[in-house]
Amino acid sequence: MQTRIAVVLLLVGACHCLPFYNGFYYDHILNNKSGNGNGDVIQFNGVKLVVSTPEDSLFGYRGGNITLPCTYHYEPEIQTPRRLRIKWVKLHKDNTKEQDVLVAIGLRHRSFGEYKGRVHLRQNKPNEVSLVINDLRLEDYGKYKCEVIDGLEDESNIVELELRGIVYPYQPQHGRYQLNFHDAKKACESQDAMMASFEQLFRAWEEGLDWCNAGWLMDGTVQYPITLPREPCGGKDTAPGVRNYGERHKHLHKYDAFCFSSALKGRVYYLEHPDQLTFTEARDACIQDGAQIAKVGQLYAAWKFLDLDRCDAGWLDDGSVRYPIAFPRPNCGPPESGVRSFGFPGKRTKFGVYCYKMS
Ligand SMILES: *[C@@H]1O[C@H](CO)[C@@H](O)[C@H](O)[C@H]1NC(C)=O
Ligand SMILES: *[C@@H]1O[C@H](CO)[C@@H](O)[C@H](O)[C@H]1NC(C)=O
Repeated sequence: MQTRIAVVLLLVGACHCLPFYNGFYYDHILNNKSGNGNGDVIQFNGVKLVVSTPEDSLFGYRGGNITLPCTYHYEPEIQTPRRLRIKWVKLHKDNTKEQDVLVAIGLRHRSFGEYKGRVHLRQNKPNEVSLVINDLRLEDYGKYKCEVIDGLEDESNIVELELRGIVYPYQPQHGRYQLNFHDAKKACESQDAMMASFEQLFRAWEEGLDWCNAGWLMDGTVQYPITLPREPCGGKDTAPGVRNYGERHKHLHKYDAFCFSSALKGRVYYLEHPDQLTFTEARDACIQDGAQIAKVGQLYAAWKFLDLDRCDAGWLDDGSVRYPIAFPRPNCGPPESGVRSFGFPGKRTKFGVYCYKMS
């Protein structure tokens, strides 16, 4: 590229132009519109690049769109527009790993991995480089870094995205404490959910979740949320809270799982059918209806986000039988709203069925 060290044009404040350059060598011609061969190269001594993002977390939901705001400015202000590189990355646990989301140089954008085709920059006002994510997925939650790279300067800031959702404890067919970490993760994923993070479990506890069985979380710890302290659940005299067993061995130790699901694309409904059905009949009946037997995560999502309410027990995809009550009333279980479970009755027992349809 350019080998010449261009004459420095200082754009700081009321130009008290420094004749020479006393910092780094900088030969990247950023704005070449002077026509005389001298690019506008900015002397950065004393100019600071500042990148701003909101401090509070943003909330999205599965299937929705979200904008992660990010702007930058220079202190003191500079007049000439600069050619920048913008990079959005997602940070992983403990901020050690990064995953590229989008890189933009001028009008050229590129997105990566699972974000391909789902992200773009929003630049509605000068100096805005917000990231729009479409069709949010469960695994999109987390911290995103907005990085502005201006040759010499490279500044960044963080935005946190959370998903509105529902955390539920999960026990498999063969009973309590049967899942190692990997099985627990699969159990959640096979039911249209993912393993919950600590933040998600904590938020669920704040909203009243009380569950006296320990379950795996995404960070490899085993915990459980208690709102009403009692003897078998960490002691009567302890404060309410999320009880923590700490990190456990991911292969050897077995617990339940906490799963997380967010809003639902499509709908869950109780199939009106003249007969009660065995599990196999139930699965077929949904297919006959142009649908599929609903998954546990889908039933929870429909209850939480769409107030699905039905006082009839029905089969679900994992072989469990449950029913969702959004408006508690006599003869429909406890006085709180919730998804009631009959556990895993034998597959020949007869019940109704909940089906799921994409649209
Ligand atoms: C700068 O602009 C001049 C004239 O428009 C052009 O001849 C030259 O190649 C440009 N230099 C760079 C580095 O783009
Ligand atoms: C998300 O954005 C896309 C593209 O702009 C749009 O087609 C879609 O309807 C939006 N979805 C929601 C839930 O607003």
